[in-house]
Amino acid sequence: MLRGADARRSHPEGPLEWLAFKLELAPLPIADTHVAFTAARAIMAGTSLGIFDAIARGARTAPSIARLCATDPRATRALLDCLVALGYLRHAPGRYTNSRRVEKWLLARSPVSVRDKILFQSVEWNMLAKLEDFVRSGQGLDLHATLGAESFARYQDAMRSLAVRTAPAIARRLPVPRGAERVLDIGGSHGLHSVALCRLHPRLRSEVLELPAAVARAGETLAAEEMGGRVEHRVGDALEDDLGEGVYDVVLANNLVHHFTARQNRALALRVARALRPGGIFVIGDLERRRAPRAGDALSGTMDLYFALTSTSGTWTVTSMRRWQRAASLAPRRPVRIAEMPGFVIQVATKPKRTTHDC
Ligand SMILES: C[S@@+](CC[C@H](N)C(=O)[O-])C[C@H]1O[C@@H](n2cnc3c(N)ncnc32)[C@H](O)[C@@H]1O
Repeated sequence: MLRGADARRSHPEGPLEWLAFKLELAPLPIADTHVAFTAARAIMAGTSLGIFDAIARGARTAPSIARLCATDPRATRALLDCLVALGYLRHAPGRYTNSRRVEKWLLARSPVSVRDKILFQSVEWNMLAKLEDFVRSGQGLDLHATLGAESFARYQDAMRSLAVRTAPAIARRLPVPRGAERVLDIGGSHGLHSVALCRLHPRLRSEVLELPAAVARAGETLAAEEMGGRVEHRVGDALEDDLGEGVYDVVLANNLVHHFTARQNRALALRVARALRPGGIFVIGDLERRRAPRAGDALSGTMDLYFALTSTSGTWTVTSMRRWQRAASLAPRRPVRIAEMPGFVIQVATKPKRTTHDC
């Protein structure tokens, strides 16, 4: 969890500045907004303009970086110096180098790069500009219905970049039933959660149920995994489609329920329960909402507001997830939280081998 919610408080310039903010002698709201949004935009610009990748290719001085990125040398220097101040670049007289953070998370060549998520953030930035409208009217956006084709493709790339690292970590924690064969990965996008699970369990095959707009781009990503037909897309709508009866051993809903209302999630759990074979599992993996807001819980607090705005929904507590599962006659297990994914929870429920209807 992000503690010390504000960027400035986590990077005070010495004890005096820390104390000034702590004692409310200096206006932290300016740091929390002006500094925070400029910092965010500078990191996004460093990524989208190819600054970090240019440095990785050997450019070291402001003019040579500007030449590679086709940018203005003076403006580039201002951006570079800002990125030094933020800890993203290192600086020795006249020379800039990438920090370890950039090398690991932002370079295109890094296997765990979240660069594509950062690139999608310019779309998210525009959505956030509608926050006041949302709070006034209560009318949120419908991200999936409003993104154009290009933004939808960037969205899918963004999701892929986050899942590359986390999908194997989640797959390792799932109690896949013995003898399991079929998986349904609802809203599975790139399919990497299915890929990771199928690699761990060679008898498994998975269908990735996705909206048509997603499959265009996510299909390319999945093809590159060379799963030989063991993981395939199925175009559809999780809110409407019949998921069948007694078909699947594992149903995944990773990072999906924050797009749906409580009523939609309850109805989905019922259709999932019907679609599961006895002994099968329903996996909800998502950002967790705290039962009550708490100072310092910046990740939980901001993500709930973000999804309220962009999907007219929000994040959900573990209690809500378990309630949907129980209402669908599934047996919830203990929630699992993993170090690789701060704020994320895996809530699994099992379909009993014998239901009360069998008795
Ligand atoms: C936040 S992404 C999560 C992707 C993937 N499960 C992961 O964890 O990386 C949510 C996905 O759900 C898909 N989605 C949203 N509404 C859907 C619906 N009604 N039916 C099927 N898929 C849906 C979106 O297209 C998107 O790819």
